Amino acid sequence: MTQLLIRGGRRLQGSVEISGAKNAAVAILPAALLVDGECRIENIPQISDVTLLLESMADMGAEVRTVNRTTMDIGCRDLPYREPGPAMGEIRASYYFIGALLGRFGKARVPMPGGCDIGVRPIDQHLKGMRAMGAEVTVESGFVRAEARNGRLHGANIYLDVVSVGATMNIMLAAALAKGKTVIENAAREPHIVDLANFLNAMGADVRGAGTSVIRILGTDKLHGGTYTIIPDQIEAGTYLAATAAAGGDVLVKNVIPKHLFSITAKLEEMGAEIIDLGDAVRIRTEGPLRTANVKTMPYPGFPTDMQPQIVTCLSLAGGTSVVTEDVWDNRFKYVSELAKMGAKIQVDGKTAVIEGVKKLSGATVKACDLRAGAAMVIAGLAAEGVTRITEIHHIQRGYEEMVEKLQGLGADIREEEVQEESESGRSLA
Ligand code: EPZ
Repeated sequence: MTQLLIRGGRRLQGSVEISGAKNAAVAILPAALLVDGECRIENIPQISDVTLLLESMADMGAEVRTVNRTTMDIGCRDLPYREPGPAMGEIRASYYFIGALLGRFGKARVPMPGGCDIGVRPIDQHLKGMRAMGAEVTVESGFVRAEARNGRLHGANIYLDVVSVGATMNIMLAAALAKGKTVIENAAREPHIVDLANFLNAMGADVRGAGTSVIRILGTDKLHGGTYTIIPDQIEAGTYLAATAAAGGDVLVKNVIPKHLFSITAKLEEMGAEIIDLGDAVRIRTEGPLRTANVKTMPYPGFPTDMQPQIVTCLSLAGGTSVVTEDVWDNRFKYVSELAKMGAKIQVDGKTAVIEGVKKLSGATVKACDLRAGAAMVIAGLAAEGVTRITEIHHIQRGYEEMVEKLQGLGADIREEEVQEESESGRSLA
């Protein structure tokens, strides 16, 4: 078993390069299945969710070739209909195969999606959209089965009852090759929604309004190949900014779109960090203790839920009381009990956490409960006095490319450590 070992208390110094956006990549890669040709996709993050998706796409008949570390060619000309394997049930983004296969072949059978355990994660809005476009959809024995009644989906007006990133993108995928016009009302507006629209349009689709709450997609008969570069990861950038705020330091976060980070940088400024917007980079400097702030997570352009555990960790070191409300997921404070092992004082009541800032955190053995909770443990470890060990780091590897190397580049004392697994009786397992 691999765990992370961090000797905390060092200021972070230097620069860090942000990778391509995970939540854009996990939709854009399945979108390549819609294309009757070859896509060159650049700035793909090297994370385990992406590896799993690419393996699955290769099994489904896509020709997947590595051009360089972050660029892949994906050929889907004359793609046969094949279903993704059961391994896809492990990741959330497998639901994008429903939209992509249904769009291209008029049918799909896909394992129900997994992903981080952060609350009930229904996909009713995805399925409602596909039904409105003429698909028969059933969920049986852990699989979603969908079939267009006339062999091809048709356009429809779809109102989303909740602002859902996944439903917005999945309906966009399904609609790109549908007959006629689809309108998504109350659509999500995240940067990765715009990125998916830009990808589809670069391949010949007609998607308008992405980034607003009404998206219009005029279906086309065929998509052609092309080249596309994925946007930088807003949450990865925010995580390094938060790490610098918590541990102290002076860091240049490179290859970012500062506008996408605004809700995060504004909050860090409120907490006393100095933020300098350099166009395609953001510099953060922090001196002295952080100030308190209240945070409420919301869909974009609100404060992202995927930064909630990281900002709570920063606030656990602020001078006073802060209140953080989680308004997207109903169970995203599970990591708080891990932070408490390091001395954080946080009371959770339903969707609200009341954080009493402490002067210092102290190293402990904690687990990464999920991807962003894992990032929060890393931030806590960097800021804490003493040694922190983080277990279950596969969660972190799902969404952060080379986090250890990037933090080492900023002067952090962090490394991976192989340990023998212990059985319940305390004996090592071979
Ligand atoms: C995406 O999940 C991200 N995952 C999540 O990131 C992120 O937290 C979330 O968007 C919100 O930004 C991927 O992109 C793979 P939603 P998604 O549909 O699409 C409710 C991370 O750490 N809802 O926007 O699954 C739902 O319960 C991960 O990178 C329905 O009720 O999220 C939630 O309360 C974790 N019915 C809210 O909407 C539906 O059909 C938002 O969910 C769909 C969603």
